[in-house]
Amino acid sequence: MKVTAVSPANIAFIKYWGRKDHKLFLPLSTTNSMNLSNCLATTTAEFSKNHEKDEIVIIADNGEEKILKKDNGGKTALLFDFLDRARGFAATQLNVRIISKLNFPFQAGIASSAAGMSALAAAVFKSLDLKEKYEDKKELSREVRLMGSVSAARSVEDGFTECTFGETHEESFTQQIAPVDHWDLVDMVVVLKKDAKKITSDIGHKIAETSPFFEARIDYLKEKPEKARQAILDKDFDTLGNLSEVDTINMHAIMMTSTPPAFYFTPGSIDIIHKVYEWREKGIHVFFTFDAGPNPHLITTQSDLEKLKSEIEKLDYVDFTISNKPAEGTRFLDEHNF
Ligand code: PMV
Repeated sequence: MKVTAVSPANIAFIKYWGRKDHKLFLPLSTTNSMNLSNCLATTTAEFSKNHEKDEIVIIADNGEEKILKKDNGGKTALLFDFLDRARGFAATQLNVRIISKLNFPFQAGIASSAAGMSALAAAVFKSLDLKEKYEDKKELSREVRLMGSVSAARSVEDGFTECTFGETHEESFTQQIAPVDHWDLVDMVVVLKKDAKKITSDIGHKIAETSPFFEARIDYLKEKPEKARQAILDKDFDTLGNLSEVDTINMHAIMMTSTPPAFYFTPGSIDIIHKVYEWREKGIHVFFTFDAGPNPHLITTQSDLEKLKSEIEKLDYVDFTISNKPAEGTRFLDEHNF
């Protein structure tokens, strides 16, 4: 059966960086995020005796294609392991064809893996008729986490979500904090012209514990997810902004002090941080957060979006921006990619 699922990328407020367990991909602490309405992966999967081998192709919005191969290693290898696991659940040996379309460019530095992996898992499970794996979002999120990405697990539920800390596989899953229409926040992804050297998040999670500040981060994280959760529920922009900015700086401090150091900021990233402080002085509701890359995500409100856009237009090091509202999580579509 041919099945298509769509899933959003997301932006974390309290970040996942470093793991409690590298085999089960258990995050160090609960991590929360908002799904992004304009950063979507739409993925079709079909298992069939007509497919001579597994084929996975990702196509970006400009038509650029990436063919994924098991020997690419990292998350791609884990993806092929996932296919074998899913075949095991369904007791089938059929090969699969998967085509995933992104509605944003690869160079946006947006974690396309979060959108791509969650959509892929749902499409694969449904095409194998594994209801217990795709109808229950908790279970779907556990499986997505095992594909090697806690951030992808957060995308399966609608709106504002969290992937919980857990000592075991069962205990770490995604749940909703608030639905899509709870809060009209906007996440503007600001794509800078200069890219930074890339250390993949998979390597980053492994080297995080080499930072002398790693234990301090674990300690600091104790109450933060709960505070951010409450700020989301209360629609308390300033509290969420403060928690998020402190958290992203804290995470980048771990990155920069790991062995080897993972240095993602470029001069533009630092300049934007200073600009955000200035814009706030002028009364614009805005805070910044960064993933494992140089591009800031600026969180603002719908009512301040135009003001923020006109400030961004003045910056010559900005390539383009993508504005996102809170979005639904993983769901199925009737139209297919092939
Ligand atoms: O889930 P991964 O392996 O793509 O790691 C995500 C890492 C960050 O984007 C930097 C933080 C986060 O929580 O999204």
